[in-house]
Amino acid sequence: MTKSVLITGANKGIGFETAKQMGKKGWTVLIGARNEGRGKEAVHRLQAEGITAQWLRIDLNDTSSIHEAARYLAEHYPKLDGLINNAGISGNMQRNPLELASSELEELAKVNFLGNFEMIKSFTPLLSRNHGRILNVTIPSTPIGSFNPLGYLASKASLNSMIKSFAMYYKKHEISVEIFGVILGGISTDLNKHQSGLLIRTVQEGGGSIAKAMMDRHHHQGKIIIRMGLTQLVRNFIFRKHN
Ligand SMILES: NC(=O)c1ccc[n+]([C@@H]2O[C@H](COP(=O)([O-])OP(=O)(O)OC[C@H]3O[C@@H](n4cnc5c(N)ncnc54)[C@H](OP(=O)(O)O)[C@@H]3O)[C@@H](O)[C@H]2O)c1
Repeated sequence: MTKSVLITGANKGIGFETAKQMGKKGWTVLIGARNEGRGKEAVHRLQAEGITAQWLRIDLNDTSSIHEAARYLAEHYPKLDGLINNAGISGNMQRNPLELASSELEELAKVNFLGNFEMIKSFTPLLSRNHGRILNVTIPSTPIGSFNPLGYLASKASLNSMIKSFAMYYKKHEISVEIFGVILGGISTDLNKHQSGLLIRTVQEGGGSIAKAMMDRHHHQGKIIIRMGLTQLVRNFIFRKHN
């Protein structure tokens, strides 16, 4: 039977690429995007490649759009297999902690933490009927090396705690949903102004890592797994070094 997955923020970047790679494996992809034009354009691009895709309005700043999407999918896709909470923002990663305004932290928390909270809560009933999975695209909770964007880190740290909290609750109450996080490492997208470097992977590589983690048969309940594509990084390093 055809499997189906809802991916938020799937009109571009890692979300779009994940949709493309899962679509090519035969999955029906439901494209969550906050903007109709961008969402429908992504759907057309996927359909042109023979992928079954549909746009759904999901804005993580608008809980009613999340509730409406959950209602729609319960009715039209009662067998939904998975949710990928991919949509996210980084804020201005160049600002140091003393330069940040609390309004910037609030904006990040609203999308990366509260928006995803509402997604998880709203889609748990439907996914639990199908032994479904919720994959959350995340980053490490603490600063590493020169990577210290406080607002982005703190909002994703809350997401990481939430993944573990829901997993513990699901286990205790025998709710049949698996929830986990995936850390990708740096991927060249709009989010980081298409940063490049030996430790940065392409969007195809990043989307591939998410698609693979979503489709694997391993047990990841409550885990934050690392999929930084070490083999790819080594390959890229050798390839780029000789170019
Ligand atoms: N790039 C990296 O190095 C990297 C590494 C690790 C994790 N991640 C995570 O990967 C995810 C995708 O990032 P990306 O690099 O692909 O960035 P991107 O190209 O900027 O894409 C972000 C996506 O999220 C959507 N979005 C933003 N705010 C939203 C909201 N309020 N409601 C619904 N959708 C919203 C955007 O929609 P619009 O087009 O409408 O703005 C876009 O579709 C993020 O969660 C990010 O934190 C990225």
